[in-house]
Amino acid sequence: MEILSRARRLRTSEAVRELARETRISKTSLVYPMFVREGSGIKEEIPSLANQYHYSPDTICEGVKELVDAGVTKILLFGIPEHKDEIGSSAWQEDGAVQKAIGEIKKNFPQVYCITDVCMCEYTSHGHCGVLCECTTVDNDKTVELLCKTALSHVRAGADMVAPSDMMDGRVLAIRRALDAEGYTHIPIMAYSAKYASAFYGPFRDAAGSAPSFGDRRSYQMDIHNRKEALKEIDSDMAEGADIVMVKPALSYLDIIFQASQRTNLPLAAYSVSGEYAMIEAAASAGLIDRERIIGETAVSIFRAGADILITYHAKEIADLIEKGKIG
Ligand code: PBG
Repeated sequence: MEILSRARRLRTSEAVRELARETRISKTSLVYPMFVREGSGIKEEIPSLANQYHYSPDTICEGVKELVDAGVTKILLFGIPEHKDEIGSSAWQEDGAVQKAIGEIKKNFPQVYCITDVCMCEYTSHGHCGVLCECTTVDNDKTVELLCKTALSHVRAGADMVAPSDMMDGRVLAIRRALDAEGYTHIPIMAYSAKYASAFYGPFRDAAGSAPSFGDRRSYQMDIHNRKEALKEIDSDMAEGADIVMVKPALSYLDIIFQASQRTNLPLAAYSVSGEYAMIEAAASAGLIDRERIIGETAVSIFRAGADILITYHAKEIADLIEKGKIG
């Protein structure tokens, strides 16, 4: 039989495979989430997230240095306060954990780009992502006001970008207006646009002490069965002025990432969340998988689906794989 088209021709050597490669990955597209706890002298491994640490503002630069040494210069900061209350008032404290950590990082590593997660769940005593109305659901509009205060306090402290993860309606527009009113027109907003009510956040909630004390997040995070709704969320965040839109989680939502990438002209971020990280680490430590290759393949798949930016607890490992030429 005469075969003219032979797909294997482009697989015969590493050189030609490199040339034919469709997805390129760069360290510059990686963002590393970090947890900063109020207090001092803290560097504690997070039990639910092997190899990830709680830092205090005075120690966070140790973690940042390791990251910078690996060639990653973008972080997403989460704060864990000492004091939690009904309305999450520690979130916008001028000397809160996130606010202080940014100061330390900017002093020691001015090249590091600091994105802050803007949400209430780490700060409220009930663990929901906003203030409650009638004690059962989250009051959208009151929460939006507090999110604006929180976002502003992060930016005043030196944050380069804010990332609201609460899933309240209208928060992107409200935060945009609040930032602009104080002259922060240059600070971008990365919206957690299609954020699903996912079980993959379990290890994070242990890490941040942010599991809801009653009920769940299904009245504000998205139903896992829905696809079109993700596009609707992305459309509305774009209309409200988001600069970057996000899909979260990543691995079980590659269909959403793909569709979102076709839909938007904005950069698209994907968040490979704590449960995705924990599953890989657990399977690897049980000797069931090749850890390095699974980390690489997972990252490649998320970019191949259409993500431009990857937020991942494996950022350092992925950077090493890129450095060694194993992916990229
Ligand atoms: C805050 C927030 C969560 C995550 C990021 N921002 C937790 C949640 O929504 O319950 C999850 C991140 C992860 O699992 O790695 N709302």
